[in-house]
Parts: sequence; C-alpha cells; structure tokens
Amino acid sequence: MPTTTATATIRTSVVTGGGSGIGQSVAEHLAAAGHRVGVLDQNADAAEKVAADLRASGAEALAQAVDVSDRTAVEKAMGVVRERFGPIEILVTSAGIESQMPYPEIAQDEWDRIIAVNLTGTFNCTQSVIGDMQAGQWGRIVTISSSSAQSGAPERAHYVASKGGVIGLTKALAFEYAPHGITVNTIPPSIIATPMAEKAVEAGLVPAIEDLAAMTPVRRAGLPGDVAAAAAFLCSDQAGFITGQAIGVNGGWYI
Ligand SMILES: NC(=O)c1ccc[n+]([C@@H]2O[C@H](COP(=O)([O-])OP(=O)(O)OC[C@H]3O[C@@H](n4cnc5c(N)ncnc54)[C@H](O)[C@@H]3O)[C@@H](O)[C@H]2O)c1
Repeated sequence: MPTTTATATIRTSVVTGGGSGIGQSVAEHLAAAGHRVGVLDQNADAAEKVAADLRASGAEALAQAVDVSDRTAVEKAMGVVRERFGPIEILVTSAGIESQMPYPEIAQDEWDRIIAVNLTGTFNCTQSVIGDMQAGQWGRIVTISSSSAQSGAPERAHYVASKGGVIGLTKALAFEYAPHGITVNTIPPSIIATPMAEKAVEAGLVPAIEDLAAMTPVRRAGLPGDVAAAAAFLCSDQAGFITGQAIGVNGGWYI
C-alpha cells in the first residue's frame, strides 16, 4: 500500500529493461524519488547489479530476470515484486530491441521477434499490473516508444511498426483507464546515448553520437537521464492531468 511522507507518496514501481540504458536511469530516478523499484530485465546480471546499486544508495529494490515476451514469466516476476513491495502502482516499459534491414529482407521470424518483445512485451507487462492500479484507483504507466514511429525511418519497418503499436496501445489504455486515476503516456525518444545506440553506431547503422549531436537542434546528444527525468515526472502525483500523450524527448529532432 502507498505510504505518505511529508513531501511525497512512496509507491511500488516496476521498470522493464531496467538493467541498462534508459531503463536503468528511470530506475535510478524512481528510487531517488523514494519509490520501491522492481528492476526487470532479460539480463539477470545487469538487473541484479542495478538493484544492488539502488539498495546501496538506500533504496528498496529487487531484481527479476524475465523475458517480457513470455507472459507466464512476466506474471511471475510481477508477483514477486507485489509480494515483496505491495501492489504495483507505477510501470515504465523500457525493455526493447532493435533491428535494421531493407524491407524485403525482413523475414517473418525477425518481424515476429521484434513485435514479440517491443509490442507484445508492453501488452504483457501493462496487462499484468493494471488490476493493481485499478484496485487502488491510482496508477502511472509510461511506455518507451520511439521518435521513428512519429517520423518514419528507412530500413526499420518492423521496429517502427512495433513502436507505432506501442503509441497506439498507450492511447487506447489512456482512454480506458482515465476514469480510474490511471494515466498512460509514452515517451518516443530520438537517439539516446545508450548501449543500444552504441551498438548501432558500431555496426555503422547510424552516425557517430557526436555527429548526431551536431545534427540535433539543441546541439548535444540525448542522454538516458533526459528520458528518465521526463518519465519520473509523468509517474508523479503532479502529472495526474496528463494522459494519452506522446511526450517527445528528442532535442528538437522531431517537432
Ligand atoms: N537508445 C535510443 O537511441 C532509443 C531511441 C528510441 C527508443 N529507444 C527505446 O528505448 C528503450 C530502451 O532502450 P535503450 O537504448 O536503453 O537500450 P539498452 O539496450 O541499453 O537497454 C534495453 C534493455 O532491455 C533489455 N531487454 C531486451 N529485450 C528484453 C526482453 N525480451 N525482456 C526483458 N528485457 C529485455 C536488455 O537486456 C537491456 O537491458 C527500448 O525500448 C528502445 O527501443 C531507444
């Protein structure tokens, strides 16, 4: 159950993809706001390291190794968080994978893999916690989509479609759950300097981070903390009148 301090209500939160990049930074921001954090990630070691670092900083945190495309595993991991920390009131879905290839080369297996993690994974996680939020008549969900789903992008049709699906899912849930005190928003970032982006740079799929910075209107690279600060605000009590929105964190890349 939520506990109220002099300044804020402490809540139970879950961050998927919390072992790296944007998700890790979101976990750190939510912990800094005083929330209990369930760090879910397919990479067990990464999730455990993030949770251990949060605990070392004085936060309550636990790690769960889970593939978000596996519904049974998701429900089990959410159950562990619920049992330890109470009903889940905040969910940020950052687990995601990317892929790039010309459209004719996207085999059905590759299409299915991207949709399973990015879109079905978001469905699995949101549906697994929405009952907690509805019971408490308070909830915050922030999905991480992509600016590529706003602008389109070449040779990423499967990734862009998965993230476009996430934006649509976010808006549908926002409507359905607004009367229950639950807000659902999405952050579609442009390129953010994370291990995912670094791998894409190394593979020659996107320009070097410093070149991207020069091409960005604000003239710097996006950082995980830029996304996490916006996500943390959307998860706060103060953000209760914001729902169904795509809050771009992109340095002016897509306006
Ligand atoms: N970095 C960018 O430039 C950028 C831009 C737009 C959108 N995004 C989106 O932001 C989100 C976070 O990306 P990031 O840059 O932090 O990447 P990242 O690779 O640093 O982190 C992603 C995390 O998700 C985890 N993960 C991957 N598949 C998973 C699965 N099936 N189940 C559970 N965990 C899984 C990984 O282990 C990793 O820890 C992704 O959804 C990505 O599509 C990133």
